[in-house]
Amino acid sequence: MTLAPADQTPIAQAKPLRLGRHDVWPPVVLAPMAGITNVAFRRLCREQGGGAYVCEMITTRALVERIPKTLKMISFAPDEDFRSLQLYGVDPDVTAAAVRMVGEDGLADHVDLNFGCPVPKVTRRGGGSALPWRRRLFGRIVGQAVAAAAPFGIPVTVKMRKGIDDDHLTYVEAGLIAQEAGVAAVALHARTAQQRYSGNADWDAIAALKQTLDVPVLGNGDIWEAADALRMVAHTGADGVVVGRGCLGRPWLFADLEAAFAGRPSQALPSQGEVAAIMSRHAHLLVDALGDERHGCADFRKHVAWYLKGFPVGGELRRSLAMVSSLAELDDLLARLDPRVPFPREALGQPRGRVNAPGKVSLPHGWLDSRDDDAVPEGAEMENSGG
Ligand SMILES: Cc1cc2nc3c(=O)[nH]c(=O)nc-3n(C[C@H](O)[C@H](O)[C@H](O)COP(=O)(O)O)c2cc1C
Repeated sequence: MTLAPADQTPIAQAKPLRLGRHDVWPPVVLAPMAGITNVAFRRLCREQGGGAYVCEMITTRALVERIPKTLKMISFAPDEDFRSLQLYGVDPDVTAAAVRMVGEDGLADHVDLNFGCPVPKVTRRGGGSALPWRRRLFGRIVGQAVAAAAPFGIPVTVKMRKGIDDDHLTYVEAGLIAQEAGVAAVALHARTAQQRYSGNADWDAIAALKQTLDVPVLGNGDIWEAADALRMVAHTGADGVVVGRGCLGRPWLFADLEAAFAGRPSQALPSQGEVAAIMSRHAHLLVDALGDERHGCADFRKHVAWYLKGFPVGGELRRSLAMVSSLAELDDLLARLDPRVPFPREALGQPRGRVNAPGKVSLPHGWLDSRDDDAVPEGAEMENSGG
């Protein structure tokens, strides 16, 4: 057993995160991650510690059209007592209809609105991280979502980036607009769309937003260890943290986060044998969630490299694990790992998951010329969820 870093000083001011009538403790949110934060992964993480665990992104259009694949993605375990759903929308009316459906059908307890997606196929149409630039449209979407959620007591939050690029920052104004519209909290991934996942998140921007807003501000970006969460809160005054890539292949990060916010030392880091047991459990949960072994194992493959990062596992075994197609095969391959190998400390505090290079942001023609045009951008409603 290897002990986790001991530099996690408790923070006296840590309070539960208030989201509408819900108190979230610790003030930690699993970031929505398409293709990752399904019911299986959320369960694995929830078993480790408290917090809010957000479902994969759902597109408003697909939801209101009741596309079966989309409805299936909105799957929560019976013991998920704070069912958190992220919606992507560009049309105020469709977004409101989707939120109303969430309330009427009792689909979730919290709705987060995605204004952070930097994917070119989304921004090219004016969606995701491009949208807050059109501030009136942004305000209408958020305002109508909040109004549609109100009768059901569902808190609405927004998740956004700093802006399109350093010359087109939107986060302070968008935060104020969202607050005015009645959101329960604002989460800032402190990068621009242009940065994608490169460079460092700008925690000073989170601090600036916190200084500006009265509603809770959630800081997001580059929390790799529990100590980073405490540092972010100390640096920014944020009311909570949103954790994405840091928990890939490391669901126990949520136990460390809970311990850190409570001022307790972290638990011991898992050995290779303990990581293998978690991998097997993750795959079993995915098979249950996706309904059959073929799909469950195929979905599990993307997690293999994250779990094994830093462990001395040979290339052939890694490759076989990353092509696994049945649970029996997975357990057989995992049995070849030496269970006594301690957790590789050099993998701590390191970026994982996407770290791609910055890139020019594709935008609709003339998008930057008018901030007050509130026409719904054409073709920006994605039909499919989870992208
Ligand atoms: C694989 C992957 C999928 C993502 N999908 C979404 C998404 O659907 N909605 C969203 O708001 N952000 C999404 N994000 C962004 C994360 O929620 C988070 O804002 C970002 O990773 C920065 O946080 P981190 O540094 O803790 O990873 C995704 C990120 C990754 C790596």
